[in-house]
Amino acid sequence: MKYELTKDLETGNRIIDNEHRELLNAVNALLDACSAGKGRAQVSSTVKFLNDYVDRHFAHEEQLQKQSGYPGYEAHHAFHEKYKQTLREITAGMSDNCSIADLAKLNGHVSLLVSHIRTEDKKLGAFLNK
Ligand SMILES: [Fe+2]
Repeated sequence: MKYELTKDLETGNRIIDNEHRELLNAVNALLDACSAGKGRAQVSSTVKFLNDYVDRHFAHEEQLQKQSGYPGYEAHHAFHEKYKQTLREITAGMSDNCSIADLAKLNGHVSLLVSHIRTEDKKLGAFLNK
């Protein structure tokens, strides 16, 4: 299964939408590396890329929130912090062994992000377009 940024997930902000697309591509790359039984080096480089990309993307979103005086900043920031931490925990052991359990946890965590995009990031997109 491949993750993709379907129309219903678009926030209306071009920067955010492009980054969400890249982020889901980074998840797909990690899942591909695992399912293709790629070596440790390749899996760990996709793990690193994904975590770094999420950090950068969340920082961009928060920058847009601060610049625009977005009222939901605190709660959004708190979600991002917790999300990054759990993503690191889930992916930490994946380069040794992409176990079914790891993959299930990762998929669950990506679903959480997809719901966050569908609700919170869309609210942000609407606010930025005002
Ligand atoms: Fe967000």
